[in-house]
Amino acid sequence: MSVLEVRGVTKTYGGVRALSDAGIRVHGGSVHALLGENGAGKSTLIKIITGAVRPEHGSLVLDGRELAFTSTADAAAHGVAVVSQELNLFPDLDVLTNLFPMREPTRGPFRDRSAMVARARPVLAQLGLDVDLRRPVGRLSLAQRQLVEIAKALVTEPRVLILDEPTSALEAASTERLLGILRALRRREVAVVFVSHLLEEVMALCDEITVLREGRTVLSGVPRGDLDIGAVVTAMLGHAQQAVPRVAASPRDGRTLAFDRVTVPGRLSEVSFTAGAGEVVGLAGLAGSGHRTVLEVVAGLRRPVRGRVRLPGDRPAPRRLRAAIDAGVALVSGDRHRYGLMLDKPLWENVAQVRSVALARDGALLRAGELRARAARQVTRLGIRTSHVDIPCGLLSGGNQQKTVLAKWLEANPEVLLLDDPTRGVGVGGRHEIHTLLRTMTDGPAIMLLCSTDLDELAQVCDRVLVFHQGRLSATLRGDDLTQHTLLHTMNTGTLPSASPPLR
Ligand SMILES: Nc1ncnc2c1ncn2[C@@H]1O[C@H](COP(=O)(O)OP(=O)(O)OP(=O)(O)O)[C@@H](O)[C@H]1O
Ligand SMILES: [Mg+2]
Repeated sequence: MSVLEVRGVTKTYGGVRALSDAGIRVHGGSVHALLGENGAGKSTLIKIITGAVRPEHGSLVLDGRELAFTSTADAAAHGVAVVSQELNLFPDLDVLTNLFPMREPTRGPFRDRSAMVARARPVLAQLGLDVDLRRPVGRLSLAQRQLVEIAKALVTEPRVLILDEPTSALEAASTERLLGILRALRRREVAVVFVSHLLEEVMALCDEITVLREGRTVLSGVPRGDLDIGAVVTAMLGHAQQAVPRVAASPRDGRTLAFDRVTVPGRLSEVSFTAGAGEVVGLAGLAGSGHRTVLEVVAGLRRPVRGRVRLPGDRPAPRRLRAAIDAGVALVSGDRHRYGLMLDKPLWENVAQVRSVALARDGALLRAGELRARAARQVTRLGIRTSHVDIPCGLLSGGNQQKTVLAKWLEANPEVLLLDDPTRGVGVGGRHEIHTLLRTMTDGPAIMLLCSTDLDELAQVCDRVLVFHQGRLSATLRGDDLTQHTLLHTMNTGTLPSASPPLR
């Protein structure tokens, strides 16, 4: 018998059908993947389970009994814990307090701090999160905050654990640990629901698969063994995935970005390269290898102690993020919470934000109607799923928020576009659209540098990839050498895989 079942759920937001007659049925001792494109309705379904959103129709059955939760806390009291996509932590409060919201162990009128510590420690150790429990959560990195959010769910020892894209902010090592924990929970008969756009990761872990497409359940609890990734992608998109068109780099003019023996202590050592107009240059490496530092230097977030950085037109590198924007440098980050959006402002204002600052500075008259129309064009171009451009950004689905960050920077018409995991949280279909756009833009930014933890993305999109190892530029891959396999080898060893020995 299923532990938890959601049936026949319909939810409409101001004319937009987020879910129609959707559902999911989860079993103890099983990891259930809940998949679908951006805006398919996954997070909405989860919010309906916890009572955060009320559907027009539908029912929730727990252990054979129909009921409705009134809040996340109520759900947790019934053994259903949720790690939501948008982090729900109190940035000013410390880690320990965040782990026990509203259900702190107490001793008399006081919270029992030692009991809280005793419960938190093993969970944090399991997750490999080594932080001071008194540290305010707002001072932690995104990955650490994500782990706190997961720990918060685990300390309730749930029977049903629902995770909405828990790994998109995590480094590989933390992801491995989390997947290990989920396997252990499965052995303890916990029902796990897992949402992720990283299909290989999900498929390696899950037992059952439910796919939503445009608010409808198109696959319902199908056993993992009956499907391969291609079939899942087809179900998600409604058609098979196509290859990214590869347009050869077309150097437009002599404008280049140049690094000449650039050194940033502890991060980059004597790095030299040039990136020309009309090509997409990838930057790869294990965490801390220096590839991200390159982006930070160009964006004015970090200054080299030695060497020269020249922007197109032989201009010096910006010394602050603000100066970078003025110099035509845009940084699109997958950490949309940090460099991202004004969530309470409408989509069109977000898309217009950077561009209007520049235009206003130049004394141009800005008309809202025109900015709306321009935003609408970006919405179509990037396939952002929304019915209008007046929707506050906070109401867009996670992946559509990420696309909006890209739209905003493209709208600013940058000469240098820095992309840092730009498709984090974006589904296969959306990734394909963004990749195609990057490959085929002819009026876009002249120079594009792409950092990605996704090797397939690097191989698909880049003309060449600079591989960093321990702060040094160790190899450049292009053409037939530019494969996921070669990337992985070079990132780990700093050397190219050796060619097979000559025959004698
Ligand atoms: N409060 C809201 N008001 C208006 N529209 C909303 C609201 N919440 C969600 N939506 C819309 O409902 C649809 C489904 O969104 P949902 O967040 O469930 O998608 P998702 O499958 O989780 O996508 P992603 O993978 O990008 O996170 C989207 O079109 C979204 O814009
Ligand atoms: Mg979502």
